[in-house]
Amino acid sequence: MKIKIFTIVSLLIINSAVRADEGMWIPLLLKKYTIEDMQKKGFKLTAEDIYSVNQACLKDAIVIFGRGCTGELISDQGLILTNHHCGYGRIQAHSSLEHDYLTDGFWAMSRDEELANPGLSVTFLVRMEDVTKDVLDGITEKDDEAVRERKIGENITKIQNENSDGSNYRVSIKPFYYGNEYYMFIYEEYRDVRLVGAPPSSIGKFGGDTDNWMWPRHTGDFSIFRIYANKENKPADYSKDNVPYKPKKHLSISMKGINKGDFTMVFGYPGSTEQYLTSHGVKMIMDDSNPHKINIRAKLLEIMKTDMDASDKVRIQYSSKYAGIANYWKKWIGENKGLKKLNAIRKKEQLEMEFQKWAEADRKRNEKYGRLLTDFGKIYKELTPYSLTLDYLSEALLSLDMVRFAGNFREIESFTDKEAFIKQSEQYKAQAAGFFKDFNTPTCKKLFTSMVRIYRDSVDAEFQPGLFSQIDAKFKGNIDAFVSDIFEKSNLTTEEKFNMLFEKPSLKTISVIKNDPFYILYNDLVSIYRNKLMLKIDMLNSRLDKLYRLYVTGLKEMQTEKIFYPDANFTMRIAYGKVDDYFPTDGVFYEHFTTLEGIMEKDNPLIYDYDVPDKLRELYKSKDYGRYADKEGKMRVCFTASNHTTGGNSGSPVLNANGELIGVNFDRNWEGTMSDIMYNPDQCRNITLDIRYVLFIVDKFAGATHLINEMTIIE
Ligand code: ARG
Ligand code: GLU
Repeated sequence: MKIKIFTIVSLLIINSAVRADEGMWIPLLLKKYTIEDMQKKGFKLTAEDIYSVNQACLKDAIVIFGRGCTGELISDQGLILTNHHCGYGRIQAHSSLEHDYLTDGFWAMSRDEELANPGLSVTFLVRMEDVTKDVLDGITEKDDEAVRERKIGENITKIQNENSDGSNYRVSIKPFYYGNEYYMFIYEEYRDVRLVGAPPSSIGKFGGDTDNWMWPRHTGDFSIFRIYANKENKPADYSKDNVPYKPKKHLSISMKGINKGDFTMVFGYPGSTEQYLTSHGVKMIMDDSNPHKINIRAKLLEIMKTDMDASDKVRIQYSSKYAGIANYWKKWIGENKGLKKLNAIRKKEQLEMEFQKWAEADRKRNEKYGRLLTDFGKIYKELTPYSLTLDYLSEALLSLDMVRFAGNFREIESFTDKEAFIKQSEQYKAQAAGFFKDFNTPTCKKLFTSMVRIYRDSVDAEFQPGLFSQIDAKFKGNIDAFVSDIFEKSNLTTEEKFNMLFEKPSLKTISVIKNDPFYILYNDLVSIYRNKLMLKIDMLNSRLDKLYRLYVTGLKEMQTEKIFYPDANFTMRIAYGKVDDYFPTDGVFYEHFTTLEGIMEKDNPLIYDYDVPDKLRELYKSKDYGRYADKEGKMRVCFTASNHTTGGNSGSPVLNANGELIGVNFDRNWEGTMSDIMYNPDQCRNITLDIRYVLFIVDKFAGATHLINEMTIIE
């Protein structure tokens, strides 16, 4: 008897070691791999309810929001829910000192108040298909990488042409498991998406960058949009005559709340993970890439923050840029800590030793896999310095707004016809208006100075842009003087100079831009990027891809009991797990949910990020939570669960065992951010905004009850 119990227990341990909530699964393959395990863990629906081409299913309620987030349909009138930080750029773009929607929030009280967002789209997945056979058709083991890539490219074009139905659908084919498998995705994109509601930043971004990536968390990170379509319910450019889109499926919202241990599932578009990285790859990230990128960004943030704190105008101008830079700066810090604590390099090395032994134990295997790890080592050694230079180039210089603005003119030299150029100038002017709205010359000058210094100090002479040679030649090493000079000379550094130049655009304008120091710098940097860096890096990466393709094949042969999930690649995935708490460090325990009490504990009118809006303070005082309170009468705000998520899962619906919406995913815990490289079931948690808090804010705080009435709410 005793022995039996022992065997059962140890079997359970082995099983959970294999599954333990890790993984981002392909919806098409649920039946084959995961649905049974999901159901065992409490899920009540079938694989067909999640993904099907024969019936309306959950997948029809999920969209790609913009370029890098997820959103979900929450009414039969095209209403979609996503994160505040996903709508942030749009909310910011509609904001000015007069209408500061960032600070005050925005609520359309009727359909005609909903705000159009040129350039914003949402994308539905119509269907997906395994096309591995067709993509790899005609490819043999003997083909070298260049030939292989060419053949794959040709096959992909062919499949794309066969499957694009008129112009409405977009066909995308992506490699999985480093090109061991290929899947095709047919997408339909809606281009008229309007802003319906956003809470003030003091709710939607509560805790700001201080709380970002952190638990306990109290951010009401949501915003609401609506999809519009033409009369046939098909995609159309913005038009007054468009009507709210009628979805095949929208999510029901559960008011039942969550308990520790409840089944949860996240459905969305995780961007990228690197689970199969070798120890060399992890080392490059931990020891080289991350520390340098962290330093560069820390500098940028420090400069921006000083200017933003000193002026409301600059704060509004730079808030979106600041948030963008701060986000991954902090993520990389957490990632490095997490990898270190996990002993990730050591763990990878152990796996590699095991792999090597396994390969050498058999003559055929040895031939195929025996040299793999040595080859990895060699290529990474060669790659590391180039990759680091690329980090400096893209983080310090190419990402600067001034440099990117100059890049807008990259086609200017091709104009020889005055009329055509004058026409194009309208577009340049429009771009410039957008750019200067969020641009402050003194701030930019400080940022640029600091980045020139860092780049000069850290990067080999071979990769220095020609313009920088002036620093010694003309300015005796004085970087400030150099920067002042080019800011003075450039016509792109203030709105006045730009407008004067483009007041009467002529062929002369072209030659002025051609000689503009920032235009020259931009071109210089691009040429360094293309000709000195990427030629080499692409070549090394393509050799790495080949090694990884083989490595993953080998790992699958070696670990036959394990189910391998493909790395995230911004295609639709499902992660499932359970509501769960955790111990972040020795002696510290984190509860799995937070409440409005916590918001009040953090309340501090003196700190922008923690200044609770008066209306919310009142609602808290009167405990006016209505039906949105939990059983104890508390207002829940966020919760943690063990779903494996990453960037791109922002805005993803978090669903319960019945497939009902219980929250919106918006972050991970800091201790778990290494999950992009190595998942740790004890430490990795996704952070979800409780749907009841969303509804409470919409209803009680904003008084936008008409939106609640559109939704399907299950009490
Ligand atoms: N960390 C979350 C994500 O990766 C939220 C980001 C919001 N941005 C911010 N700087 N607070 O996207
Ligand atoms: N905030 C992230 C995003 O924008 C999601 C958090 C994560 O990386 O897990 O997608």
